[in-house]
Amino acid sequence: MSEIYCSEIMGVGHFVPERIMTNNDLTAFMDTSDAWIKERTGISERRIAATGVSTSELGYKAALNAFSRSDVKKEEIDLIIAATLSPDYYFPGIAVLIQNRLQIPCPAIDLRAQCSGFSWGLTIAHAMIQSKQYKNILVVGSDIHSRIIDFSDRGRNVSVLFGDGAGAAIVSAKKRSAEAHVKNKVSGIIDNYMGSDGSGAELLAMTRPGLSGPELFITKEEVENKSYSPYMEGGKVFKHAVTRMCESITALLERNHLTADDIDFLVPHQANIRIISAVAEKFKFPMDKVIVNIHKYGNTTSASLPLCLSEGVADGRLTKGKLILTVAFGSGFTWGANLIRW
Ligand code: COA
Repeated sequence: MSEIYCSEIMGVGHFVPERIMTNNDLTAFMDTSDAWIKERTGISERRIAATGVSTSELGYKAALNAFSRSDVKKEEIDLIIAATLSPDYYFPGIAVLIQNRLQIPCPAIDLRAQCSGFSWGLTIAHAMIQSKQYKNILVVGSDIHSRIIDFSDRGRNVSVLFGDGAGAAIVSAKKRSAEAHVKNKVSGIIDNYMGSDGSGAELLAMTRPGLSGPELFITKEEVENKSYSPYMEGGKVFKHAVTRMCESITALLERNHLTADDIDFLVPHQANIRIISAVAEKFKFPMDKVIVNIHKYGNTTSASLPLCLSEGVADGRLTKGKLILTVAFGSGFTWGANLIRW
């Protein structure tokens, strides 16, 4: 029987800033309420990074946490993939900054897929391993939203949703018999799905600062009136999120001859509890098979999935042999899913 390379997740970790901002804390800045936010989103509180803390620093700390929970040493990493929409600098990206903090000599690439960034990172790591080019890949998702969102009444439809945080996974090449892999019985990433639709780009976007005009990267007026903050058409984004997340799940289930009953845990991007519930309901996933932590962290963008995976491992739900389906949707629009035997 021939052997093939599988991509096994050897460790996951996360890091969130200490400071908690509750829904009630937000009422000091804007006209909102704990009841409105909880009812519409399921969020109770979120974490806020301290002044001076950067996205690469959060990502680095999440990576250290993943290494502490894995047999793979940082010196063995031969590729870093880091996803964010809130980089330390306009350029370079955060992957090289994380690489420098870890002091490991390997290529480090940034991935721009917003809330789908970590899902796509796993997909690319899997492809890189299967191509036999890399053996141990660090995938990081890290975001600091609190610096760019508008905490006034005008930005309240966006600012109540997001929080800061980071997560990381170490994905390693493991030789397995092709037969066992075909039957999806061995630990590793089994299949992935990715999609994009750029016609929705401006429905959830931070278009300024930018190089598409007016003539300046950012104008004084734009800074003064905070028009650099993300813009979102919430209702449209909501509908696209449910549709595309369902499409991604259907694709992976059908391609792998599985039903929702075969899945031990659904790990969805944490954007809104109503989106998560709608997706779970469509496939009749009972909520105790869905990993949810949105109440504690809000939407942490690229950190959302690894935060769920990391907490799921820590609390004993995600144990070896469990079949897991992750699913994400984000600005772009972008979406994706990963079928993983833990
Ligand atoms: N607090 C109180 N009221 C608020 C508010 C807030 N934070 N944000 C908006 N409102 C108000 C609106 O102004 C509106 O008032 P009006 O009826 O007087 O015009 C009312 O609440 C309803 O707004 P609406 O936007 O229709 O609410 P909604 O039920 O669609 O919920 C979201 C808004 C943002 C929670 C919801 O659209 C959503 O979650 N969308 C998807 C977001 C998402 O997942 N984004 C990331 C994808 S990766």
